[in-house]
Amino acid sequence: MNKVAALIPAAGDGLRLGRGPKALVEVAGETLLSRAVRAFAGAVDEILVAVSPVMMGGLEPHPGVRFLLGGDTRQGSVYNLLRETDADIVLIHDAARPFLGRRVIDDVITAVETHNAASVVTMVADTLIEAETGRVIERSTLRAVQTPQGFRRELILAAHEHALRSGCAATDDAGLVRILGHEVALVEGSSWLMKVTTRADLELAEALAAVWDAQC
Ligand code: CTP
Ligand code: MG
Repeated sequence: MNKVAALIPAAGDGLRLGRGPKALVEVAGETLLSRAVRAFAGAVDEILVAVSPVMMGGLEPHPGVRFLLGGDTRQGSVYNLLRETDADIVLIHDAARPFLGRRVIDDVITAVETHNAASVVTMVADTLIEAETGRVIERSTLRAVQTPQGFRRELILAAHEHALRSGCAATDDAGLVRILGHEVALVEGSSWLMKVTTRADLELAEALAAVWDAQC
């Protein structure tokens, strides 16, 4: 049996939201961090969370969860998480995405078992244009990248170490794996996996929580 770890980067300052460390912001009475942790309970073998130094002092207890310090960037936080686990498979999930269901987690693990790397993506519903010219970009072949993303630990660790050596950066971990020349399987996500980035997203998340919390 593969040992599976959930790695949750939660060390961001939440500057665009402007409410202090974003992972500690509440949606319908529960922090984003707690929602992300709770999503993985019972679905994986261990849960590790990267937090910032200011967060470390004031964390509420989360039994069975290991906390460690993140880095200055998301990529740095994920790298710190990767070095703290010996799991065979890791699932990397933003604390800023509070509505993660069991179906998605299980689909990503299954995809990693076959393909070694997998990312949740969703179709793009809006028409996409180039801002300066108004030129419409064909959207049927495009996907929006969400999390969780799952990998064999050794593959994603090698990708991060290659990125460090060569100075590459990517906003998602699958991007670093692709730089190494590996394919990444795509798993169907949904609008539920929206990321809370702005005030409007937080208001939307509050509204969504009423439905989500009633069904989970
Ligand atoms: N993150 C992290 N370490 C960092 C920066 C970001 O662990 N140094 C995490 C965030 O906590 C979040 C995820 O990466 O769960 C996605 O980042 P983002 O949505 O950009 O969150 P913030 O960086 O906190 O927000 P902002 O960019 O508005 O400051
Ligand atoms: Mg950020």
